[in-house]
Amino acid sequence: SFEVELARSGCVVTVPPGCSILDAVRDVAPDVMTSCEEGFCGTCETKVLEGVPDHHDTILSAKERERGQTMMICVGRSKSPRLVLDL
Ligand code: FES
Repeated sequence: SFEVELARSGCVVTVPPGCSILDAVRDVAPDVMTSCEEGFCGTCETKVLEGVPDHHDTILSAKERERGQTMMICVGRSKSPRLVLDL
């Protein structure tokens, strides 16, 4: 598991295996917009402020993946113990 910090509220949530970031943050960030929830529409794209995202979407280019400044939180996970997201 890993932690996600929501920069706007300062809330920190734990994302256990088998639970998406989206599901983990829904209670504390109810306005997050989503649609496909499978990593192909781009609706849930979220800025990454700190940490290293583990991308599982089919939208970002190789360059964007490498830069790690944005991610689809419906399917993406984290390679670092904590991600700080612009939520
Ligand atoms: Fe479609 Fe996340 S909701 S990419």
